[in-house]
Amino acid sequence: IPPKSIKHYLQFNDLTLEEYEYVIARAAEIKRKFKAYEIYHPLIDRTLVMVFDKNSTRTRLSFEAGMHQLGGAAIYLNTRDSQLGRGEPVEDAGQVMSRMCDIIMVRTFGQDIIERFAAHSRVPVINGLTNEHHPCQVFADIFTYIEHRGSIKGKVVAWVGDANNMLYSWLQAAEVFGFHVNVSTPHGYDMDMSLVSTDRFTFFANPSDACEGADLVNTDVWTSMGYEEENAARLKAFDGWIVDAAKMSRAKPDALFMHCLPAHRGEEVSAEVIDGPQSVVWDEAENRLHVQKALIEYLLLGKIDTENPTD
Ligand code: CP
Ligand code: NVA
Repeated sequence: IPPKSIKHYLQFNDLTLEEYEYVIARAAEIKRKFKAYEIYHPLIDRTLVMVFDKNSTRTRLSFEAGMHQLGGAAIYLNTRDSQLGRGEPVEDAGQVMSRMCDIIMVRTFGQDIIERFAAHSRVPVINGLTNEHHPCQVFADIFTYIEHRGSIKGKVVAWVGDANNMLYSWLQAAEVFGFHVNVSTPHGYDMDMSLVSTDRFTFFANPSDACEGADLVNTDVWTSMGYEEENAARLKAFDGWIVDAAKMSRAKPDALFMHCLPAHRGEEVSAEVIDGPQSVVWDEAENRLHVQKALIEYLLLGKIDTENPTD
């Protein structure tokens, strides 16, 4: 039976505001150390196992490099060449993997898969993206917003595009951090309200109206991983949902633009916006590294005594 005290990070609201404030402060310090080439090895001999059912560039790289930088090791497994691809139950995989390592990251399809995996794990499990949630990315994005603009409390975040994993994690973040989300999704691609547990959002049928007065404009791919066969229909349905200069001009003059990447210029965002001065997409990507290192440190070591740190 897995120990009761282990803490997983399967959805954004698995951490409280107070925990986020602590981990954000640690992420800033860990980022400072990284930039200063300061060695920080609190996780010597600890191993992270990463299980990928879907493609990745940023998630794999940030977790693998991050674990190495903390003094530990990371092991990459994917469905194709592990026994998961041959039908080994996720419950069994959770049992076995968690007996050989200290922490696990899973990127998979349904949220139910990672929930079942975590229920059988003896060590913390981190959601590296599911169909329903992408909490690590939204955590990095909130950190990025705070770096550029300070507190996100009371701000307005526009979401223009698909009702996908990123949106559901942003909506959970709105509840935790106290901001509002203006949502605009095309007809037929509405939010699944069973995944929404906040009233901190307003729906706009017109995507330009959703950007009005926003502090941050956010979008993502129109076709997420796992939905590829819908791509042609989605391209038609999302016509008009591109975040372009005209939509950005409806937002506040100092509004930021975010996209978790990978992006498709000319589809969900124009090149002039993603490559323009309001875009912070490269900071978002980099901050995956710093935020996840702080998250791993917290899940494995708890709150450390920053006055008397080890190593
Ligand atoms: N944003 C993000 O999670 O990127 P990858 O799919 O490359 O990991
Ligand atoms: N919504 C996208 C995010 C990719 C990082 C997807 O799930 O494919």
